[in-house]
Amino acid sequence: MANEHDPACNDGTDCRDTDDSHAQADMHDHDNGDHDNNNNNDNDAVLDTTSSRPGSPAVYIKNLVCGYGKNRVLHNVDFSANTDELTAIVGSNGSGKSTLLKAIFGLCDITSGSIMARGKNITRVPTHDILKHGISYMAQRKNVFQELTLLENLSVVGGRANADQAMDHFPELKPFLGRPARTLSGGQRQLLAMAMMLINKPYVMLFDEPTAALSPKNADLIIAKIRKINEENNNCIVLVEQNVMQALNYCDRVYLLASGNVVYSGDPQVLLEDKDLASKYLGL
Ligand SMILES: Nc1ncnc2c1ncn2[C@@H]1O[C@H](COP(=O)(O)OP(=O)(O)O)[C@@H](O)[C@H]1O
Ligand SMILES: [Mg+2]
Repeated sequence: MANEHDPACNDGTDCRDTDDSHAQADMHDHDNGDHDNNNNNDNDAVLDTTSSRPGSPAVYIKNLVCGYGKNRVLHNVDFSANTDELTAIVGSNGSGKSTLLKAIFGLCDITSGSIMARGKNITRVPTHDILKHGISYMAQRKNVFQELTLLENLSVVGGRANADQAMDHFPELKPFLGRPARTLSGGQRQLLAMAMMLINKPYVMLFDEPTAALSPKNADLIIAKIRKINEENNNCIVLVEQNVMQALNYCDRVYLLASGNVVYSGDPQVLLEDKDLASKYLGL
């Protein structure tokens, strides 16, 4: 996406830089001293994980082991999500989908492995700094301040001027700007949460089940909005989706998780056609 206001760049670096030496310098900026995290293997050598070009990995995860305290949830997970694409994560309840998003956003405990975002090592970077790297996250629940008005919700994350600008993308919400968020319908509340994510012009947007508990009509509206955001901003969208068939129809790439392992990654149509995987893991 256009990067004129990328908060990731407020450390004086140009985050659009695709120069390898720059990327290395950035890695060392955030080096946590765990040399396992900076393993270079053959894949790393050929993959440009630093570029903002469409189709290049905006998020690149290698050998990730993480969880909560001593409870390890993900086991040696490799994952990448490209700029300009919509990547879906599917799998049964408890398979680790939310944990994968939380790992990227600094919300779980990382035992080993590495997470790169456009060439910067963000492994174990605290959440408030992850935001500065241009990554935003929409939690499954409690993703708006219920007692604040819509305008106040937007202003809290992006300031008043940006709040007005954000509304240009969400004309549906304009009539309700002065209302407390708790008075919104489920679909409207998700739109508000999306507007709050978009306000800082992230280049990676992480959505955790944005259509959960919505009517089919509202779910379609939210997905259409997410696709539109992706098209207009050419950013990287990663989305956990409980409606597998729907996800497989609109995503560019899919990851199927089972018990904290990736059991499939790639073209969604290929997954659909794989009768063994589809019947074993997707109930199809
Ligand atoms: N905050 C937490 N503390 C401890 N364990 C958790 C926490 N959140 C999730 N888990 C555990 O991690 C596993 C994966 O959970 P999660 O990533 O939420 O799965 P999914 O999103 O695929 O349903 C589950 O066994 C769950 O109980
Ligand atoms: Mg979940």
